[in-house]
Amino acid sequence: MGRIVKVLSLVLVSLVLVFGTGIEADAKKKKKKVVLTAEETAMFDKWEVKPKKRAKAVKDMRKKPKFVGAIKCNGSCHDPYYQAWQNSPHGGTYKLLKPGERKEAKLRVKLDPEKDYTTTPLCLRCHTTGYRQKGGFKPAGSKSKKGKDTATKIDPTEPNKEQVGCEMCHSVAGGSQFRAVMKSSKGNFTKAETEHYGQRWDYANVCTRCHTHKNTPFKPEVHDKYKFNYEERKLKVHKIADYWSEDNADQKLEKKDERAKQVGQTEKTPLLIEDFKINDKGKLKFKKGTKPYNSKKKTYNYKK
Ligand code: HEC
Ligand code: HEC
Ligand code: HEC
Repeated sequence: MGRIVKVLSLVLVSLVLVFGTGIEADAKKKKKKVVLTAEETAMFDKWEVKPKKRAKAVKDMRKKPKFVGAIKCNGSCHDPYYQAWQNSPHGGTYKLLKPGERKEAKLRVKLDPEKDYTTTPLCLRCHTTGYRQKGGFKPAGSKSKKGKDTATKIDPTEPNKEQVGCEMCHSVAGGSQFRAVMKSSKGNFTKAETEHYGQRWDYANVCTRCHTHKNTPFKPEVHDKYKFNYEERKLKVHKIADYWSEDNADQKLEKKDERAKQVGQTEKTPLLIEDFKINDKGKLKFKKGTKPYNSKKKTYNYKK
């Protein structure tokens, strides 16, 4: 009898050791309960967000920014923008890296027109979304430390991170945080509010992440067509006029005109443009101090 009790209690003790008591798990759950700061509460009050919805939104806003892809902007918020972008030059930048595409242009800058550049780090930086950054595009052959395939899946009918997506122009380090702001406020946000969470409004500046950047092979010196006039070019970025329909009429941006009168901090003091190079190991490295967002200090870096 005594032996059985001993054995049983031994089993019980080891079970507890292995699986915990459950009491602990409950305590952990309680600990995880999200407590909003006064600022966060004021923000949600202003947008009239239901209490139930606040915890989830604030979790996204507090996490480090990451790239989410153009598809996340489509579907119920910016469908006409997505469709227009899909048919715009930036919605097809990945294809240009394939053999046989734009032979003449490649030959002119001494690139090999028969080479496959779809895994070449230098090219990926300017032809895809968020390459070498959190949540960003990963080329074929990418593997996790454990050897799992982590390459970005590509669906030719739905362009996403493999192209120059929305986030390459509209975000500092990915749109995950300000997407939560836009959704929570149902579009009723100020420039300052989304800027705080990583949106950028320095449009003319942001183009120079790629156009006329010192690392692009397609410089104005090579051909006149690479000269960059922002006012002319911006008209071709997403020509939404043709994409409004009955189905998406509710996505018209009601606050757009009001926002146009505001001047964002990024418009007053544009953000830094990244400098980068390919290191000895063939990896793309950003030059220290040139990133527009400092993820350690959680601060934005403006041009001096
Ligand atoms: C610093 C950014 C940057 C890098 C790096 C870069 N590109 Fe581009 N690429 C651009 C921009 C910007 C354009 C559009 C230029 C324009 O039309 O004014 C472009 C255009 C192109 C075009 C079309 C040119 C034409 O006239 O039709 C091809 C092809 C191309 N890139 C291939 C590549 C390949 C291959 C690599 C890597 C070896 C590469 N690019 C690296 C920014 C870049
Ligand atoms: C190549 C850069 C670029 C890309 C890519 C891009 N945009 Fe834009 N977007 C702009 C510029 C520039 C403007 C401002 C145009 C103007 O001033 O008339 C703008 C304006 C907008 C606006 C209006 C903002 C406001 O409140 O005034 C929305 C919404 C928008 N873009 C959504 C998107 C979405 C969604 C995508 C992806 C499907 C996208 N954009 C891709 C550059 C870009
Ligand atoms: C992440 C890199 C990147 C950024 C940022 C970027 N572009 Fe581009 N852009 C490209 C590439 C690559 C192409 C080449 C597409 C092609 O030739 O098919 C291109 C092509 C274009 C074209 C088409 C040129 C033509 O006539 O065929 C326009 C217009 C344009 N960009 C405008 C802009 C504007 C305006 C901005 C800033 C608001 C901007 N781009 C920001 C990479 C970029």
